[in-house]
Amino acid sequence: MSFEQRTISCGALRPEHDTQHVTLNGWVNARRDYGGIIFLDLRDRDGVTQIVIPAEQEPELAASIKDVRSEWVLWVKGVVRMRENPNPNIPTGLVEVRAHQIGVINPANVPPFEIVDDLLTNEELRLAYRYLDLRRPALQRNFIVRNRLYQITHQYFAEQGFLEVETPVLTKSTPEGARDFLVPSRINKGRFYALPQSPQLFKQLLMVSGFDKYMQIVKCFRDEDLRADRQPEFTQIDVEMSFIRQDDILATAEGFVRRAWSEIRGMEVQTPFARMTWHEAMSTYGSDKPDIRYGMHLVTLTDTLRTCAFSVFTDAIAAGGIVAAINATGCGAFSRKQIDELTDHAKKYGAKGMPWLKFAGGELTGSFVKFLSADEQQAILQALDAKEGDLMLFSVGEFERACTVLGALRTEVARRTGILESLRGTFSFHWVTEFPLLEYSDEEQRWVARHHPFTAPLPDDMQRLMTDPTGSRALAHDLVINGYEAAGGSVRIHENAVQQRMFDLLGFTQADAEAKFGFLLSALQYGAPPHGGIAFGFDRLVMLLCETDNIRDVIAFPKTTSGLSLMDGCPSTVDTRQLGDLGISLVQ
Ligand code: AMO
Repeated sequence: MSFEQRTISCGALRPEHDTQHVTLNGWVNARRDYGGIIFLDLRDRDGVTQIVIPAEQEPELAASIKDVRSEWVLWVKGVVRMRENPNPNIPTGLVEVRAHQIGVINPANVPPFEIVDDLLTNEELRLAYRYLDLRRPALQRNFIVRNRLYQITHQYFAEQGFLEVETPVLTKSTPEGARDFLVPSRINKGRFYALPQSPQLFKQLLMVSGFDKYMQIVKCFRDEDLRADRQPEFTQIDVEMSFIRQDDILATAEGFVRRAWSEIRGMEVQTPFARMTWHEAMSTYGSDKPDIRYGMHLVTLTDTLRTCAFSVFTDAIAAGGIVAAINATGCGAFSRKQIDELTDHAKKYGAKGMPWLKFAGGELTGSFVKFLSADEQQAILQALDAKEGDLMLFSVGEFERACTVLGALRTEVARRTGILESLRGTFSFHWVTEFPLLEYSDEEQRWVARHHPFTAPLPDDMQRLMTDPTGSRALAHDLVINGYEAAGGSVRIHENAVQQRMFDLLGFTQADAEAKFGFLLSALQYGAPPHGGIAFGFDRLVMLLCETDNIRDVIAFPKTTSGLSLMDGCPSTVDTRQLGDLGISLVQ
C-alpha cells in the first residue's frame, strides 16, 4: 500500500513550525470525537502530536477516518498551528496539526491492553504481546538509554586503547559456576557445546596472545534460578587488561561509570569510589552488595549476650556463631502480623526464627525479653542506639548466614518504611573487595571457588593457598550501585603452578584439570602476562540508569522468571526427526 512519507516526526513539532505544511506517519494513540471536531493523537518513537479534523467543515475528511481507532497506522498531511488549549505536559503541547488529508496505512485489531505508561495490566499479558508493550513511551525511553550506553561504552573503551574482540558462542562446558545451556552437536553425535556463561577463559587467552586490552559487549547465558535482576541470557561489558594491578582495573571501571552517569544522567559522580572489604560489608550491612545510601547498620552483640539466659543465643555463640541485630527505627508500632511477615522473610534467608524487641513506654517488650537481665537490656539499647518507638530485629548463627538474614531484613524494612522510595534519583557507588577466595561445600565435601577458579589470592594469602587455604582472600572486586552488583572481576592467576594448585584444591584430579582446562594450563606455560579484568552487567547498568527494579524493562524480549518467552512460546518441543538428527532420544 502506498503512503505519503513523513517530513517530520510526531515528537518534533514546536511553535517555530507554526504555519508549516507537514506530513506525519504514526500510530493513533487516542481518538476524541466531539461531533463537530475530532482529535487524533498520533504517536511515533519521538512523541505525540495532536491532529485536528474539523468534521463540520470537512465532512469528507471526517468520513474517511470514521473507522479509525487506537493503534491504526496513518499518514496525515496538514498545517501546523498554535493550539487554543495548550498542553504543558508534552513537548509538542503548544502546537497541533490541522489535517487536510489522512490515509490509513494499516488498520489494527483492538489491542489486548491500552498502550499507556503506568499500566496495571498483568505482566504476562504484556509479555505475550511484547511488540505492543514495547510501543509504550516509558519502555521506548529505556531502549534509547540502552542504545546510548552501547555508544558510550564503545567510545570510552576505544579512547582507552581497548580492542573489541568477539569470542565464541559455541564453547566447551565448564563445571564451575552456574549450570550451562547445552547445544548438541549434529556432526559429532553425543557431544555438546555449551553457551558461554561469560567469555572468561577466552579473554584470559587473548591476554596470553598479547592483545593487552580487550573489551566486548557480549551475550552470556546461565541456566540458574531467575530473579528481578537476573535473566538466563544477559549482556556483559567484558573487560580484560595486561600488566596491571587491581587499582588500574578499578580506575578504568570508575572512569567508564563516571562517563555514563555524566552523559546519560547529567550527574558528576565522584571518583575514586569508596572501597570496603567483604568482611566489612557483611558485618555492617549484612550483604556483599549493600545499599549504603541509608544506615540501619548491623550491630554485633555476641559479647554482650554471651552469658545471657536465652539458650538460642548462648548455644549458637558456643558453637562459634554470632548474635547481631538492627534497629528498625520508628517501627515499634509494627503489628504482630507485620512482625510475622518479617519473620517469614528472615526464614527465606535461612533463619530459624526472628527474635525481636520493642522499646515503648520506656519499657522493652518482645519475644525473649524475659531472658534478659536489666544490664543486658540496657546494653542492647545502648549498642543499638534504640529510642522510644523503635523495633529491634535479631539474628543468630554462623557469621555469614546470620549477617545475611539481617541484611535481608534491613532491605525489607527500608522498603516497607519508604526509605528506598525516598532515595529515588540518588546513587551510591562503591567497591567490595577481599572476598573469600574459596568456600567449603559440606555437600560436595570440597572447596569451591567463590568467584571463579582463575581468581588470584591476595599476595599476603598466596602462602596459605599452598598450605591451608582456610580464610584466604581473593584479589577480586565487585562494583555495587544502590545495592545491585553492577560489575565483578578480579586479578587472575597467571602462573601455571598456582593455577594447578587451585584446581587441586577444588578437587580436580590432574587428569580432570587437563581434560577440562588443559588449554588454559598450557597457555599459562607460554608467557602469560599478569592480567585481570572485570565484567559489568550491562542490563543492570541500564536498569540503574533508568531507575527500574525490573530487568525485563530494559531487555527487548525477556524471559519470565520461569525462563519462558510468552510471546513465541520458547522453550518448545522439537520433532523427533530433529532429535534423531542429533542422536538424542528423550527419557519421559
Ligand atoms: P560475574 O559472574 O560476577 O563475573 O558477572 C559479571 C556481572 O554480570 C552481571 N550478571 C547478570 N546480569 C543479569 N542476569 C544474570 N543472570 C547475571 N549474572 C551476572 C552482574 C555481574 O556483576 N567472568 C566474570 C567477570 C570477570 O571476572 O572479569 C563474570 O562473569 O552485574
